[in-house]
Amino acid sequence: MTHKLPELDFAADALAPFLTAETLSFHHGKHHDGYVKKLNKAIEGGPLASASLVELVKKSDGGVFNNAAQHYNHSFYWRCIAPGGAKEPTGDLKKAIESSFGSLKDLHDAFTSGAAKHFGSGWAWLTADSGGKLHVRTTSDAGCPLTDGENPLLTCDVWEHAYYIDYRNERPRYVDAFWKAINWNFVTLALAKPGDVEKAILGK
Ligand code: FE2
Repeated sequence: MTHKLPELDFAADALAPFLTAETLSFHHGKHHDGYVKKLNKAIEGGPLASASLVELVKKSDGGVFNNAAQHYNHSFYWRCIAPGGAKEPTGDLKKAIESSFGSLKDLHDAFTSGAAKHFGSGWAWLTADSGGKLHVRTTSDAGCPLTDGENPLLTCDVWEHAYYIDYRNERPRYVDAFWKAINWNFVTLALAKPGDVEKAILGK
């Protein structure tokens, strides 16, 4: 199968001032697209050519893993943010946050601190383990919680290319703005129906 760059759910200027159209044009149109192209080239004609993206993330290593996981992570990230700011988590997601962290404020503090302090390139995540408990994780480079058996619910890209145009070296300010733009509807879907996430993020 040929992997494709998913379309964004919003116009390139719809997230400003959180992220400008210039950031989105480079981040989605150059960086993310580059991972997709390198992935297709790496698997072409080989035994992994027919594997799904999630299968590639879970089973591959080296350059195939790096490009597959970056494709998955970015596709996930785009669904986690939306114009118009965040709506509060509700229902089962609200209950899971409160039972795992105490409150939304406690999750906010753990997530934003983890994202801001993660050393070097990587990702901050909210995940659910097999018992339904939620966790804040960070991964380096292309790392993805799927390889540790946890389901991603929310991610923030903390590679410099995600924020340098708009925030220069001020990652904490970017992370604060990210928190205000979270699409909690997607996080709710990811918790309730992890089997539907791959389709949702790839827009098939
Ligand atoms: Fe990125």
